[in-house]
Amino acid sequence: MTPKIDHERAQSAALFEEAKKLFPGGVNSPVRAFKSVLGPPLFIKKGDGSRIWDEDGHEYIDFCASWGPLILGHNNAKIKEAIFAAVENGTSFGAPTRLENQLGKLIIDNHPYLEKIRFVSSGTEAVMSALRLARGATGRSKVLKFEGCYHGHVDALMVKAGSGLVTFGVSTSAGIPAAFAEQTIVSPLNDREKVNEIIATQGNDIACIIVEPIPANNGLLLQRHSFLRFLREVCTKHGILLIFDEVISGFRVGFAGAAGLFRIQPDIITFGKIIGGGMPVGAYGASAKLMSNISPEGAVYQAGTLSGNPVAMAAGYAAASQLLNPNFYKGLNQKTRFLVKELRAYAKLKGYDISFPRVGSIFWIAFSRDRIVNADQIDPKSMDKFKTLHLELLKRGVYLGPSGYEVGFISAAHTQADLEQALTAFKAAMDLVNWA
Ligand SMILES: Cc1ncc(COP(=O)(O)O)c(C=O)c1O
Repeated sequence: MTPKIDHERAQSAALFEEAKKLFPGGVNSPVRAFKSVLGPPLFIKKGDGSRIWDEDGHEYIDFCASWGPLILGHNNAKIKEAIFAAVENGTSFGAPTRLENQLGKLIIDNHPYLEKIRFVSSGTEAVMSALRLARGATGRSKVLKFEGCYHGHVDALMVKAGSGLVTFGVSTSAGIPAAFAEQTIVSPLNDREKVNEIIATQGNDIACIIVEPIPANNGLLLQRHSFLRFLREVCTKHGILLIFDEVISGFRVGFAGAAGLFRIQPDIITFGKIIGGGMPVGAYGASAKLMSNISPEGAVYQAGTLSGNPVAMAAGYAAASQLLNPNFYKGLNQKTRFLVKELRAYAKLKGYDISFPRVGSIFWIAFSRDRIVNADQIDPKSMDKFKTLHLELLKRGVYLGPSGYEVGFISAAHTQADLEQALTAFKAAMDLVNWA
């Protein structure tokens, strides 16, 4: 029986019924189906600044931000203007444009560890291409990834990943030949011994170690700086390439992402989300030498009809230029620190078993007081608490991504008044969770 949710969604519900006839599960990306929270998914009509509106006319303060890309909020004036200006000249040429140079140069000039990049159309495509580059450059085939790190729906990496996979309680997707999965070795995060053991036995076959330097798809599993430094060291020692998957952390925790924040130079970095200013863009980058392996310069083939799409490049450039404003990240981090500090104080006052890990403008709601650094520390039963919290927040005009394994994001568009309004809602919602 469908539980009664006491949050009017007639329009969203009707649209979802129609969508179910059109798309598998009614959606074009699994977590959107609201399977692990209550009620039908909200169909969103529009967004502006920190807010979104659903088809039933409810207004929400948005902490999902399209899963991270909207660091400047919805409908950012400069991005919108850039998109309109680009569209005036056409939408796609399949030939180089000045706009690609502009965005490429802006990124490379402001990132300490990139000499060349290649634009693609999604984070998944960036990661898939980065793996091929690592394999092509090293002549090795195996990949070491970490439990709970999500790298898009790349065949080789759909093993013990986070995001939608963990939301639906599966560790590996169907449709991946065993021979592909065998090329992937999985280690727990934060476990040097395990990594050393794997390298001792299979090091010569490993092309790359891929990690989200800030794992943010299975909760926010903040790793120690020393673990990431250790990965850098073992990679260098054993001729393994280190890939930082910065699809979430890139341009989020600073313009140079986690690599810049931790001052660790990976061999390859992958990007998505923010890089396109809300349009579909991904990218991967490395030293000029390593990137010379990519076609047409080198033998590693990778291409895309819509890669470097002019409208998306214009949006990306308009977004990235704003991130370079002095104090941009300081302001964003201060807001997030405020929200999290107040949430922590309230939870402590009430004695609730909850904590709010944070880095930069990323936060997570963990139903535990322990510091969680590994995927297996998360109790799946705690997701029932998230369900209540999610619904009670929606009722009070606050939108979180519809899964307790996903993180929240603050944007430059969130005002102090937004945060205070959200805090009132959070406190009331926390009070309604069954803490037993
Ligand atoms: C770290 C990471 N890598 C890769 C991806 C895949 O990106 P996309 O969804 O754009 O294909 C994601 C998506 O959430 C991600 O968080």
